[in-house]
Amino acid sequence: MTDFINLQLGWPSPSLFPASQLLEGASNVLKSEDKTAAALVYGPDAGYEPARVSIAEWLTATYSVGSPITADRICVSNGASANLHNILAKFTEPGYTRRVWMVEPSYFLACPIFTDAGFQGRLRGVPEDEEGLDIEYLRDALSKVEQETNPEKPTLKTGPRHGKIYKHIIYAVPTFANPSGKTMSLARRQDLVRLAREFDALVVTDDVYDILRWPKVKGQDASKLGAVPPRIVGVDRKLDGGPQDEWGNSVSNGSFSKIIAPGVRTGWAEATPAFALALSTVGSTGSGGCPSQIAATFVQEMIASGKLQSHIQDVLIPTYSSRYYTMMQAIETELLPLGFEISTGKPYEAEPGASQAVAVAGGYFTYLTVPAGLPVGKLAQLALEQHNLKFANGGMMTVEGDDGCAERAKNGFGNGIRLCWAWHTEEKICEGITRLANLVKNMKAVEQLR
Ligand SMILES: Cc1ncc(COP(=O)(O)O)c(C=O)c1O
Repeated sequence: MTDFINLQLGWPSPSLFPASQLLEGASNVLKSEDKTAAALVYGPDAGYEPARVSIAEWLTATYSVGSPITADRICVSNGASANLHNILAKFTEPGYTRRVWMVEPSYFLACPIFTDAGFQGRLRGVPEDEEGLDIEYLRDALSKVEQETNPEKPTLKTGPRHGKIYKHIIYAVPTFANPSGKTMSLARRQDLVRLAREFDALVVTDDVYDILRWPKVKGQDASKLGAVPPRIVGVDRKLDGGPQDEWGNSVSNGSFSKIIAPGVRTGWAEATPAFALALSTVGSTGSGGCPSQIAATFVQEMIASGKLQSHIQDVLIPTYSSRYYTMMQAIETELLPLGFEISTGKPYEAEPGASQAVAVAGGYFTYLTVPAGLPVGKLAQLALEQHNLKFANGGMMTVEGDDGCAERAKNGFGNGIRLCWAWHTEEKICEGITRLANLVKNMKAVEQLR
C-alpha cells in the first residue's frame, strides 16, 4: 500500500515547530527565580500579566490599529476551543440564549462544544456567499426567533457572577475560514456588528489563521498585501462610536496552536475590559487559576523577544505559501480539467476596488466543489480505501441538528471537499492531488461503462 496522505489534518507539521525558541523561553523563565515563582503558582485569573501586555502589544502591531489594544482587553486562555466553552459558561443560558448561529459550512468540531453547553437542537446554520456570512438571511432568521415566546430574563444564571447573558451567539471564522477558506469583506464585518448590536447577540470569532497570509499569485509583491483585515472585535471597538455598552457584542478567540504548536495549549480572548474581566471569573479559573499558566510564560518570552514574529515571517509564511502555490498549481493542472471548482470566495480587499493592493491568500485550507454528479461521501470513502488518501468532505460540515442546513448542503457546500496544506510536504501534496485525480478519472470511467 502507498504511504498514507492526510489532506484533512489541520495541524502544523512537526518540522515547523519552533522548539528552540520555546526552549529559550522556557529556560529564561526557569532560570529566573522570580519568573519561576510566577510560572509555577496558580496564575492570576486573567493570565500572567506580562503575557497579557505582550499579546496586547503584538495585536496592536499586527492589526495596525490606531489606538493601542490595552492589556485589560486580554484574557489568557488554554486555546480557542476550551475558551469557547468558557465563553458559553459565562455569557449564555440555553433557552434565554435562544440560538447559536453558525456559518455554514461550519467548523464541525465547534458543534459538540455548543451541545455540551446545553445548546442541543438550538444550533442553526447561516449560509455564506462570496463575501462571507449572508447578513440578510441571518437578520430574517433572528427576527423570526424573536417573534417566538422567549424568556424575558435569564433564570439560572443571575446575580453578580453573571453580569451579562446574551440572547444569541453567532459563531464565525471571518478570515481564511475553516473550512471554506473564505474571508469576510469589510462591509460584511460592519453589518454583522450592527446586526449583533440590534439583536443582543455575541459574535464569537475564532481568529486563528488571520496572520498567515501571502499574495494569492506567486511572485507578486508581499509588501502590497495591505493591512490584516480587522477582526470583528476590532470593528466593534470602533464602529459608530464603539460598543453600545461595557460588554460589547464580540469576542475574539485567538490561539497559538497554528503559529507555535497545538500542544502549547495557549491562546487568548480579546473583548471589552468588562467582558475580559468577567470571562476570567469563570468558576474553573477561580479555582485553578488561569489555564495554561506555565506555557503562557514561555510564549510571552517568545513574543517579547520577537522570536515568534520572526518564526511567522521567516518560517511559517514562506513554507505555507510555498505549499499553497504547489497545491493550487496541482489543482489547476489535475483537478480543474476534471470539473472541480475552487470555491473560496472573493479575496479580501482593504478598500473595495483598490488596484494597488494584491489579492491575498492564506490560512490552512482550500475548498473545492467536486464535479457535478460525483457523490462526495463515496469519493472520500474510495480515496481512503483505494488510495490511502484522506480529506474532509462537505457532509462533515453541516451544523449539528439543523435540518435546513442539511438540506442546503445537498445542493451546495455538501458537494465540496476541504484540503489542508499545513501538514504535508509539497511532494506529498502533489502526490495526494494526483491520487485524487486518478480516483475521479476511474470513477468517471466506471460511470461511462454503465
Ligand atoms: C476555526 C478553529 N477554531 C479552533 C481551532 C482549535 O484551536 P485551539 O487549538 O486553540 O483549541 C481550530 C483548529 O483547527 C480551528 O480551525
